Amino acid sequence: MRPESTAIVTGGARGIGQSICVELARRGASVVVADLDSEEMAETKELVEETGQRCELVETDVASSESVQKTVEWVLEEFGSIEYLVNNAGIAGPTAPCEEVSTEEWEQTLAVNLKGPFQMCREVLPHMRAESFGRIVNIASVTGKRPLPNRTPYATSKMGVIGFTRTLAAEVGEENINVNAVCPGSVDGPRIRRVFERQADETGQTYEEVRAEVEREAARGELVDREDVAGLVGFLCSEQSERITGQDINVSAGKVMY
Ligand SMILES: NC(=O)c1ccc[n+]([C@@H]2O[C@H](COP(=O)([O-])OP(=O)(O)OC[C@H]3O[C@@H](n4cnc5c(N)ncnc54)[C@H](O)[C@@H]3O)[C@@H](O)[C@H]2O)c1
Repeated sequence: MRPESTAIVTGGARGIGQSICVELARRGASVVVADLDSEEMAETKELVEETGQRCELVETDVASSESVQKTVEWVLEEFGSIEYLVNNAGIAGPTAPCEEVSTEEWEQTLAVNLKGPFQMCREVLPHMRAESFGRIVNIASVTGKRPLPNRTPYATSKMGVIGFTRTLAAEVGEENINVNAVCPGSVDGPRIRRVFERQADETGQTYEEVRAEVEREAARGELVDREDVAGLVGFLCSEQSERITGQDINVSAGKVMY
């Protein structure tokens, strides 16, 4: 990564976003964590600082244009430039048949997952254009490529993220700004365990049966680690990936192959 560079990672307080913050710091960037609650981000700060890099926490709601604007202004004042942007913040949205999804649930899911990356890019792009350099990575999902019944708002938002990624990549490529999407499969951790437990309750299966079924769907017969996702994000921010843009790359242990 570029020396003295700065990365903003949205939703970096925990989960995949936290691993991305640490990966980018190990590769040499200062990291700004943009998440809802600064207390929750404290652990990420500690982990990033262990790498020797600077880490700042900025309370940000990516669904609010005002909040996004303030965050980007603050980062530019503090750091002078923004080379890397990782749009990772996301919510699962409701699990329900389409006709039972409320307008509020629909709007909230799309506001965080799709409007959020758009608003972050809109604020950061003028500065990346001025520097003729930028690497943007949007965290989509394999659900951005194939249907997931009873999750219409989430799947629609992630399909939108892939469309947004391709379109923006075509707009800014000649200015040395790359835009890619990373599509994780089911990532092992507390969140996916809760999903399996809920599914087990609903179907009368055991937790182990539900988990084994999901694992069997992947070519490697396993779930994904959050570090696998972070590793790809790091690569997409590195010199080795200079001519990779507009792509949506799966990290799914071979669950999805297109
Ligand atoms: N975990 C998985 O299996 C999986 C699979 C595919 C894709 N993804 C995607 O990866 C990304 C990270 O997922 P995760 O599992 O680590 O999630 P997580 O719930 O553990 O973490 C998400 C983070 O985003 C933050 N956030 C939520 N709304 C926000 C907002 N409005 N503004 C700023 N921050 C906000 C949360 O506070 C949290 O820290 C998401 O975009 C998710 O859709 C996850």
